[in-house]
Amino acid sequence: MAHDQSQTESHYPAYRILVVDDEARLANLVCEALSDLGYSATACCSVAAALAIVDRERVDVVLSDLRMPDMDGRGLLNEIKRRNLDTAVIIMTAYASLRDAVDLVKEGAFDFISKPFDIDQIATAIAQALKLNEVVQDNRRLRAEIEGRYSFSQLVGNSPSFRRVIEAISEVCESRATVLLTGESGTGKEMVAKAIHFNSPRRAKPFVAVNCAAIPEGLLESELFGHIKGAFTGALSQREGRFRAAHGGTLFLDEIGDMPLPTQAKILRVLQERNFEPVGSNKTEQVDVRIIAATHRNLKEAVVNGQFRDDLYYRLNVFPIELPALRDRSEDVSLLTANFLQHFNEEMGKAIVAFTPGAMKAMQAYHWPGNIRELQNCVERAVIVCRSTAIDVPDLPPYLFENDGSVLSRSGVPHHLDEELERIEKSYLLEALRQNDGIQVRAAESLGIHERSFWHRLKKYGIKMKRSDDESEQ
Ligand SMILES: Nc1ncnc2c1ncn2[C@@H]1O[C@H](COP(=O)(O)OP(=O)(O)OP(=O)(O)O)[C@@H](O)[C@H]1O
Ligand SMILES: [Mg+2]
Repeated sequence: MAHDQSQTESHYPAYRILVVDDEARLANLVCEALSDLGYSATACCSVAAALAIVDRERVDVVLSDLRMPDMDGRGLLNEIKRRNLDTAVIIMTAYASLRDAVDLVKEGAFDFISKPFDIDQIATAIAQALKLNEVVQDNRRLRAEIEGRYSFSQLVGNSPSFRRVIEAISEVCESRATVLLTGESGTGKEMVAKAIHFNSPRRAKPFVAVNCAAIPEGLLESELFGHIKGAFTGALSQREGRFRAAHGGTLFLDEIGDMPLPTQAKILRVLQERNFEPVGSNKTEQVDVRIIAATHRNLKEAVVNGQFRDDLYYRLNVFPIELPALRDRSEDVSLLTANFLQHFNEEMGKAIVAFTPGAMKAMQAYHWPGNIRELQNCVERAVIVCRSTAIDVPDLPPYLFENDGSVLSRSGVPHHLDEELERIEKSYLLEALRQNDGIQVRAAESLGIHERSFWHRLKKYGIKMKRSDDESEQ
């Protein structure tokens, strides 16, 4: 078997390989060949000598003979496992029966090679072991990073209402209770869902998020439960659903208030019975999944209006956590802005130290319809445009100063009341559209008016939408 050149050519820093064989001639021969391939290889003739080396320095791969006079290769393997090292062990043996080999791999050996072997075989096994090591280490690093990112300390806020949220999270994260997160857009529902998962006993298992509003109604079921091949036109192959993907972990059902009624019925069943059938299949699958649901809608109202099943509502409402709007905890604005400032300073290599009192006052007074996300965007933009060491009023978006009730004091009594009111209304409509990326439903919602009414007002002021899928292009 030819070894993979790209994986075994000179490595800097060189990977360290330890070759253990009581036959010194053989150990030295293998070492020489490995050195030629760019590895830093050391030979030794006993398990005791090998252990002295692994205790002293990092070794990436140990290549060990099985039968040796003092302790054998199996003993060495056990000692290395006991030390919890990342070192991969490959066993070489002249006597390997299949049974031996399987046992050794079960006990934690990466691979085994039967004697006589050629160096290509060894090189291939080492390259594979190194690759696996790398994946394991990457994984560990990523996991540590993710856990750090979603630790409670990342959830910024010290107001009484936010402290209650943190308390609720710490109460519920250890259990597998269903959590219902409610709150306006941008209040941190997804961030809280991740904090719960990554602080729960399920943290090592997947966190799977599904945005129920973003998936077309016809596809939602197969997305959640999977489908078998040929279940519907276009189902060319079998597909695993998100419930299965989240097995052992947490499934985050985002925007659950937008889920169509037929899908609601199916979700209810999974919550009750912990099982489901993929679309087109009659085989029932069991899953162990913790559910966290989130919505910016008022679900109780949706129940009254017949848009949401009441039985599902009660199933979800086991442990409700309401995330406060930012305007209701404006004492957290300074803490949040300080955090975001530090973050964007680092990201953009800037050294802005503070906000001027005027800028801070404006941010604390603003009503933040987009909540923390909007505040975060605002700080990001300010860090970009700021030319001095402190963020000042001109670095903030002008709309911060239009909505603070100062309309009257600024312009005095208008000479043309209707015109003035229309001007104000129009600017609010435009601002709401801007903040909601031109999505009319959301813009209407942020203004607390019905979509129809919103649309009529756009028409009245001749505000044209650019989105091609929009019928209001006129
Ligand atoms: N307590 C917090 N501390 C720091 N940052 C936060 C906090 N809450 C939210 N954020 C940040 O605000 C942004 C919005 O949060 P997230 O996406 O969790 O909100 P959401 O409620 O899911 O919004 P939407 O309803 O629009 O989906 C994210 O960038 C998140 O990092
Ligand atoms: Mg969200």
